[in-house]
Amino acid sequence: MLIRRLARDEIENIWEIDRSEIIGKVYYLRDGRLTLEVEPYDMRAWPQGEAKLYMPFLYDCFDRGGTFYGAFEGLEMVGAVVLESKFIGRKKDQLQLKFLHVGNEYRKMGLGRALFEKAVDKARELSAKRLYISATPSENTVGFYLHLGCELTKEIDQELYALEPKDIHLEYRIA
Ligand SMILES: CC(C)(COP(=O)(O)OP(=O)(O)OC[C@H]1O[C@@H](n2cnc3c(N)ncnc32)[C@H](O)[C@@H]1OP(=O)(O)O)[C@@H](O)C(=O)NCCC(=O)NCCS
Repeated sequence: MLIRRLARDEIENIWEIDRSEIIGKVYYLRDGRLTLEVEPYDMRAWPQGEAKLYMPFLYDCFDRGGTFYGAFEGLEMVGAVVLESKFIGRKKDQLQLKFLHVGNEYRKMGLGRALFEKAVDKARELSAKRLYISATPSENTVGFYLHLGCELTKEIDQELYALEPKDIHLEYRIA
């Protein structure tokens, strides 16, 4: 598996990653605590129109210096991670982990961790103190981030919260 930086014209290939997932439970933040509740979804592909809607945000992110990595199996992109370059937070010392996906057939093999660590290394190089993660609330996604040492953020970013109020907003302290 090769992980390398993506060029601008490769960004559109992100949508080739097989996003499908059977979700059984999702997390809610109730009274400041995470609670896991049964809520099944059959995510077969990217939601209709998601790629078209999201592409301008990804290009904007790239153009202002965001970092994009892709994981390749041969010529196929099977995972990707995107780190924002715009500092956020009261102290302007956080960078958002904007996107992290591993294709269905390539999950639970260490690729998510490898991509996450690439983003952490880059954030450290940019002198960020924390990553900010607006995480899909599924059991698997939140479980993954908690396992890697992420915790509920103490400082919600209102702009990102308004975009994804159902997400679980996490932070990761960069050592
Ligand atoms: C979430 C996701 C990125 C995880 O990637 P992955 O490649 O399956 O994860 P890894 O195999 O690298 O797992 C890394 C570590 O987390 C652990 N882990 C993975 N899923 C876990 C879970 N649901 N609960 C607890 N730990 C978990 C692994 O056991 C592994 O531990 P180790 O390194 O200590 O042995 C992947 O499942 C995915 O793309 N899901 C769909 C899209 C998505 O939700 N993206 C995030 C949007 S915010």
